[in-house]
Amino acid sequence: MSSRIVVTRTIPEPALDLLREAGDLWLNPEDRALTRDELFEAIAGADAVVTLLHDRVDGAFLDAAGPALQVVANVAVGFDNVDVEAVRSRGVRFTNTPGVLTDATADIAFALILMATRRLSEGERLIRSQAPWNWNMAFMLGTGLQGKTLGIVGLGQIGIATARRARAFGMQIAYTGRRRASPELESELEARFQPLDELLATADVVSLHCPLSDETRHLVTAERLAAMKPTAFLVNTTRGPVIDEAALAEALREGVIAGAGLDVFEREPEVHPALIELDNVVLIPHLGSATVETRTAMAVLAAENAIAVLEGREPPTPFV
Ligand code: GLV
Repeated sequence: MSSRIVVTRTIPEPALDLLREAGDLWLNPEDRALTRDELFEAIAGADAVVTLLHDRVDGAFLDAAGPALQVVANVAVGFDNVDVEAVRSRGVRFTNTPGVLTDATADIAFALILMATRRLSEGERLIRSQAPWNWNMAFMLGTGLQGKTLGIVGLGQIGIATARRARAFGMQIAYTGRRRASPELESELEARFQPLDELLATADVVSLHCPLSDETRHLVTAERLAAMKPTAFLVNTTRGPVIDEAALAEALREGVIAGAGLDVFEREPEVHPALIELDNVVLIPHLGSATVETRTAMAVLAAENAIAVLEGREPPTPFV
């Protein structure tokens, strides 16, 4: 009997083609997140579900899917939408999409670093406002990166790729995380390991790359922002709730830190209204992996993961 494969929201065609060949595909006909009830109805009796980052995968999801469910393939490297223990305890496989979005996301992290330190959004807003402006020696001065320290929180694949870009811009690298990097990687990046609080107190730019978990939710609090240098910048391309967004808005308004660049938000797609008012924060709408190539590669990898499990093979990028 052919497998029932559910895709909760449209993904690039090459991935859908693979899934159509592998089984009986149900695809959300509308390009929007399904409500919880719609989701539960759609996944009933599924052998495989391909999920997006807005689908919550928990005990109730697994109950709704039922005993046929073999695999949940998330089209994201992030897994904070998934109760990994619930999935593991039911003997269901869970996969994510590491690797294929590393460069695209590191590009966005570095773009945010440049935009924030060189005041690029602010400059563009000025031109578009059609307000008169004149070049002069002191006009819209930003902060140079050469010789400054980039503090990476979470030296995983995306953190490493961001650090490599920073090296090319002449920056020094400090990092923190649960584990020490290998001596080879530390020496390639000339990176020094620091406890989080020391890194926050000394870095000129802090870039967040840790996954969202109970441990990292509101990792960046008002107190930690206060510990940063008043000249420092904070960049977030991981998940919004890693930062206390209200505290960040307050810190930016009060000049506790110099600026920030955010691709992700605490209550996405909402953005804290106080941030919208501020010139010293760059705000972009979760574009980390948003290239044609990367989104296609993510979807194809998720499809390959689901199909491998359905065919009794080990998936290419298993998480559970
Ligand atoms: C995107 O945010 C991802 O986790 O892949």
